[in-house]
Amino acid sequence: MSDSFSSYLKERCKTVDRALNGYLPQARTRPGTIHEAMRYSLFAGGKRLRPILSLAAAEACGGNLEEALAPASAVECIHTYSLIHDDLPCMDDDDLRRGMPTSHVKYGEGIAVLTGDALLTIAFEILAQTPPTKRYDVGAYVTELATASGSRHLIGGQVMDLEGEGSDVLLSPPQLKFIHQSKTAALLTASIRLGAMTANVTPGKLEALTVYGQSLGLAFQVIDDILDVTQTSEKLGKSAGKDEATNKSTYPALFGLEKSRKEAARLTKKAHEALKPFGKKGQRLGEIAEYLLNRDY
Ligand code: IPE
Ligand code: IPE
Ligand code: MG
Ligand code: MG
Ligand code: MG
Repeated sequence: MSDSFSSYLKERCKTVDRALNGYLPQARTRPGTIHEAMRYSLFAGGKRLRPILSLAAAEACGGNLEEALAPASAVECIHTYSLIHDDLPCMDDDDLRRGMPTSHVKYGEGIAVLTGDALLTIAFEILAQTPPTKRYDVGAYVTELATASGSRHLIGGQVMDLEGEGSDVLLSPPQLKFIHQSKTAALLTASIRLGAMTANVTPGKLEALTVYGQSLGLAFQVIDDILDVTQTSEKLGKSAGKDEATNKSTYPALFGLEKSRKEAARLTKKAHEALKPFGKKGQRLGEIAEYLLNRDY
């Protein structure tokens, strides 16, 4: 990773953290437990990839950062809620997340469920503060995020993931692809689209960014599956080797590591191609796709 791209990511993380800090109630707000728990998971140190994509998409479309901060913060709240629930004993049963004990380990299951609920809810409170543009009103923003997070996408993917685990029979490749598109690529795509919408993006460019997001989003979950096999828990900040231990259908389980890596590279190439209409303005989005392909956590 070049020095300038690495400082760009750090700078963007700071911007996102500042915005989230401003949108979230103070930890001492009554009742303190829930507000502390929301901040505990949110500020545990994620990569902030989804909000960074929102900001980069806004800029690629000639918009400005300020206007994209509300959707950027909203998508990170949704993502963090999905991780809290994903880690629950009734789901993936993980005790490590972002290098820290998971929400239910720290606060108990009841509070962890409610913390997820609260982050999901506040996401829409924050999103509603996004300035409308000529083409997109607040209703369009809400529809975008609700659809990506709901039962036809993120939740639906989690349902199929849950139903598919622990069986001796692996899912079929199309089933697995559908799960990954739903549980992971949909929110990543919405993050990008929302950023672009704050810049009043044209329908043509929005479509190009959708292809970019879907390709990068699927590659992202393929890499997540690969890292679960190849990295340590310490490096990942979450428990490695869990997918195999629970007989999960994953890209490496179905295709092996080498073919999975090739597929992630192919999808990343497709993401790059989708950026053509943006010329130089799409440079950061291109760099992000490359960084995600080569990441080691
Ligand atoms: C992990 O997402 C969950 C998946 C959808 C694969 P990230 O790898 O973006 O997690 P954080 O936000 O950096 O913790
Ligand atoms: C999680 O997928 C996807 C969502 C939270 C929507 P994983 O279960 O593979 O994510 P990790 O590996 O626990 O981060
Ligand atoms: Mg899971
Ligand atoms: Mg999990
Ligand atoms: Mg995983």
